[in-house]
Amino acid sequence: MNTLLFKNADNDALSQCGELLRQGELVCFPTETVYGLGANALNAEAVSKIFKTKNRPADNPLIAHISDFDMIHQVALSIPDDMKELTDRFWPGPLTIVLPRKKDLPDIVSAGLDTVAVRCPDHPIATALIRAAGVPIVAPSANLSGRPSPTCLAHCQEDLTGKIAAIIDGGECSIGVESTVLLPLGDRKVKILRPGGITVDMLQDIGFDVEVDPAVLNPVKEGQKVSSPGMLHRHYAPKAPLTIVRGEFEQVCDTILKTMDEETWVLAFEEYLDRFPRAVSFGSKSDPLSQSQALFRALREFDRLPCNKIYAMEPAEDGMGLAVRNRLLRAASFQIIDAEDLK
Ligand code: TXA
Ligand code: MG
Repeated sequence: MNTLLFKNADNDALSQCGELLRQGELVCFPTETVYGLGANALNAEAVSKIFKTKNRPADNPLIAHISDFDMIHQVALSIPDDMKELTDRFWPGPLTIVLPRKKDLPDIVSAGLDTVAVRCPDHPIATALIRAAGVPIVAPSANLSGRPSPTCLAHCQEDLTGKIAAIIDGGECSIGVESTVLLPLGDRKVKILRPGGITVDMLQDIGFDVEVDPAVLNPVKEGQKVSSPGMLHRHYAPKAPLTIVRGEFEQVCDTILKTMDEETWVLAFEEYLDRFPRAVSFGSKSDPLSQSQALFRALREFDRLPCNKIYAMEPAEDGMGLAVRNRLLRAASFQIIDAEDLK
C-alpha cells in the first residue's frame, strides 16, 4: 500500500485524512504523548485493521480519542461526577479514563470488556483530525506491537510505511510516554493502571485518593488477574537485554565502566554521559520529563547500534518518574541489579 505522507497538517491534509478515516482506513497522527495509529471507532472493520497492522494481541483494548467533551456520549454510557471533575481539570491532556461502554460501540474496541477507555488529546493536529473525521478515533501507540512507542515521524515510518493509508508529521511529541490510564473506584478514589503525564501528585493535590496498581512496578505472575490487559504484554523491549543498575550514581558509573565490553551500551543521564565510551542520553537525572522525552528514542537507537548488552541508570519514582520507571522496567523485563553485584 502507498502511504501518503503529510508534512503539513493544513486544511487540505486534514480533510483528506478525515475522509480516509471515514472510509475505514488507518491514519497515523501526532499527540502530545506519542504518535497514535487512528481508525474510526464506530467501524469494526476499520478497528480490526489496527490489530492486524500492529500484530496486536486481540485481548488488548484500545483508547477512544475525542476532540470535545460532548463526543464522550458516542462511546461511553455515562461518566461519574468525580470523573467529570477530572476531565474538566485535565482535558485536553494525557489522561485516559476507563468508563462503562456504550453497547453499540463495536466489541473489538474494548476487546470484549464492558468498559471503554477515553481520552481527549492535547495536540492541535489530533484535535483537528478528529474533528475532520467527525467520529471518535481509536488510537493505540503507532508502533508495531512490542516495539517502543513512536515519538517522531521517523519512528512511525520505520514501523508503518507501506502498511497504512497516511501519516501526518507533527514533529516531536512533547511528553514522550503514553497517557495515564485511570480506573475510577467511586467517591473520588482512582486506581492508576498505567502512569503517565497526569501524576499521582497532580491527582492528590485536588483531593483524590490514588492507588497505583501493583502491576505498574512489579511483574505480573502467571495466572494473576489484571485490571488492564496491556499489563500482560511484552513491551518496549530493545533487541539486546537491558539491565537497570541501582545505587549511588558515582558507584553505578564506576562498576559499569569496569564491567562493560565493546558491545555494551549505557542509557546514562546527561550528567554522566561523558564517563562512558558508549552511551545514549537518558535526559537529566533531576528532570523526569526530559527522561520521558528521551526514553523511547533511546530504546529504538540501541537496535541500530552494534550492541549486545545495555545497562541503564535508575530513574526516581516521583512525579513523571513513575511513568519513566514503569516503561523502563518493562523494557528491562524487570531485570534490576545493585551496582555492587554487577560483575
Ligand atoms: O497516550 C496514549 O494513551 C496513546 C496515544 C496515541 O493517545 N495511546 C496508547 O494506546 O497508548 P495503547 O493502545 O498503546 O495503550 C492503551 C492502554 C493499554 O495498556 C490497554 O490495555 C489499556 O490502555 N486499556 C484500554 N482500554 C481499557 C479498558 N477498557 N480497561 C482497562 N485498560 C484499558
Ligand atoms: Mg502501546
